[in-house]
Amino acid sequence: MLVLGIESTAHTFGVGITDGKEIVANEKDTYKPKQGGIIPREAADHHYKFAPNIIKSALDKASVKLKDIDIFAFSQGPGIYSPLKVSFQISNFLSQKYKKKLIGVNHCIAHLEIARKETGFEDPVMLYVSGGNTQIITFAEGHYRVFGETQDIGVGNLLDKFGRVMGISFPAGPEIEKYASKGKRYIPLPYSIKGMDVSLSGIETFISNIKDKHSVEDLSFSLQETVFSMLIEASERALAYTEKESFVITGGVAANKRLNEMGRIMAESRGVKFKSIPMEYAGDNGAMIAYTGYLMKNEPEKDYLPKPVFRTDSVKINYR
Ligand code: ATP
Ligand code: FE2
Repeated sequence: MLVLGIESTAHTFGVGITDGKEIVANEKDTYKPKQGGIIPREAADHHYKFAPNIIKSALDKASVKLKDIDIFAFSQGPGIYSPLKVSFQISNFLSQKYKKKLIGVNHCIAHLEIARKETGFEDPVMLYVSGGNTQIITFAEGHYRVFGETQDIGVGNLLDKFGRVMGISFPAGPEIEKYASKGKRYIPLPYSIKGMDVSLSGIETFISNIKDKHSVEDLSFSLQETVFSMLIEASERALAYTEKESFVITGGVAANKRLNEMGRIMAESRGVKFKSIPMEYAGDNGAMIAYTGYLMKNEPEKDYLPKPVFRTDSVKINYR
């Protein structure tokens, strides 16, 4: 069985193909705003423009044709409506043209499932960190349950906002990581954690107010150390509470080496297994949509619509 998955919830248009065991293609292109954050209409235009080539190169990589695909999966949400509807429209059209099943995939769950696949961990605590989302999740009784989360903005969003203030282009995460590795001095920043929840927007305001007094390297270093410590502390609480035996970090911010290093140190000191996921599967990608579509292959046929708001814990997981 072959599943083709399309991702388009925000900045990335991605197409992945899987047979359920291997990812046989994972092609993507990311929209980069000229300045500032994502402009929804521009992101959608980018996705429509790149769709034909990305789909073609994914099919070529996998050495298959569209008629060989058994299920078309798409990122149903959460996301920004304009870009979100691109994956829906294309998958819906293809499923009707080739008379194949259509499956709508929750984007957040796709980040979780690709992490489980890539690490081989059956039942980990997962720190899901991306632009819009920051959640500590584990599976219980038919749902992915959120044990802790941000009370305001996602950690990627915080990094991107800091980047904008410092004149670093979107997405700022990778550039901040480079600056942070050269930082020498730790500047204390607000550390706000309540149980397994964190609050991040206060740091943004604080750091904007002191930015002219420090180097971008020291600010980046201090920002990473503070925020990542909060996330790892909250994750440790979830591990202690649930007594799960493995830990993984997923989502766009999981590309960060320092965050993974902190996660590994915390996990190993508790006797919990830890593995990083490959960079290619950290940020938004089509492979995670294809793979989750494969897991959902026995879902009954139904009509789908894009869902800009679509919480992780609202989805009933029937395949576990
Ligand atoms: P979601 O809908 O899951 O919130 P998203 O639209 O935010 O998805 P992702 O690709 O999952 O998309 O995450 C993008 C975020 O990851 C951006 O905020 C970006 O700055 C951040 N990021 C990417 N690489 C790194 C890195 N090396 N270090 C820190 N952050 C990173
Ligand atoms: Fe994402």
